[in-house]
Amino acid sequence: QVIPIILAGGKGERFWPVSRLKRPKQFLCLDGSGRSLMQATADRLLNLAGGWENLWVITSSIIADGVREQLPELPESNLLVEPEGKDTAPAVAWATIEVAKRYGKEAVLGFFPADHWIGDCNAYEETLKAAMQQAITEPSIVTLGIKPNQPSTGYGYIEQAQEKSNFNNLPVYQVTRFTEKPDKKTAQAFIDTGKYSWNSGIFIFQAGVVLDELSIHAPEILNPLLEKGKAAYAELEKLSIDYALMEKTKLACVLPANFGWDDLGDWNGVERLLKKDRDNVELATHIGLDSKGTVLYASDEDEVIVTIGLEDVVVVRDGKVTLVVKKDRTQDIKKVVKSLSKDD
Ligand code: GDD
Ligand code: MG
Repeated sequence: QVIPIILAGGKGERFWPVSRLKRPKQFLCLDGSGRSLMQATADRLLNLAGGWENLWVITSSIIADGVREQLPELPESNLLVEPEGKDTAPAVAWATIEVAKRYGKEAVLGFFPADHWIGDCNAYEETLKAAMQQAITEPSIVTLGIKPNQPSTGYGYIEQAQEKSNFNNLPVYQVTRFTEKPDKKTAQAFIDTGKYSWNSGIFIFQAGVVLDELSIHAPEILNPLLEKGKAAYAELEKLSIDYALMEKTKLACVLPANFGWDDLGDWNGVERLLKKDRDNVELATHIGLDSKGTVLYASDEDEVIVTIGLEDVVVVRDGKVTLVVKKDRTQDIKKVVKSLSKDD
């Protein structure tokens, strides 16, 4: 059994204006399935968890009510509410402490980003089972590696060495180096070696193993949380688990993930997912004349978007805000969001 903990405290600014402070990326339904990214994440982990009573979510207070609304089946005792988001290192540390209180230090935990798309759920479950096997076989922090197809600077890069074990024909490799978000040149050099994969952001380990590793590599995060629980958040720095632990630990290993994965970085990611053979990606009522390559989204079903002679443009309507952006500039949405007032 794996105890899944969904990391659901991120902001997803590149999906603005739909992703506002209280409605971040993980709450959005971006694949036309009717389930949000977070709901879909919970759905595909239920089997492995053995029901809702073993599924956990950690999020920040500002969006906790949104999580309750979207996951009504989640027991309140399994919802960990951080006073404020301090990135994933404090989230992983605190959740591991709390979950270990109920299941013990031997328990195998899995941390899962709330905002990813997964293609083949059966292959996903098989891979997670192999990761769990590895985690109970020897002290390990198991990562799932994605085959890179471009020198993206938004991912962690995992260098793999020799195969150390194999479960059901799924090999597990020793990790020699973990580099979080390298610059483009370094990323390209990594890819050229053929030894690197992207970090999927999913981690599987025994609770006690990570508590020990955090006490060595990140005592400034672990100790206050052990002493004061969540009251320690006020004094913690923002830091992701990738920098705090993964770049430092010697216990990392990697299992190649062959289940279809996309982190839908921005609106282009949505297009990647839904495009198929359609001219336009329509998550809105759309009336189009001579338009192609557009991505259209409206939060409200009765809103109509009309495009005429438009190409390679993203149009997003949400309440009183409309965003129109050329497809190759969607990464810059973050810059605009930064310059806006706090609750936009
Ligand atoms: N509870 C909580 N608190 N969750 C958080 C917080 C926080 O303060 N900050 C982020 N999260 C959640 C996000 O909602 C997301 O589901 C997950 O943690 C990862 O955070 P991101 O902010 O999306 O990380 P990233 O995309 O920059 O990088 C990570 O994911 C990549 C794969 O998508 C890293 O692990 C990279 O190494 C990895 O390649
Ligand atoms: Mg992410």
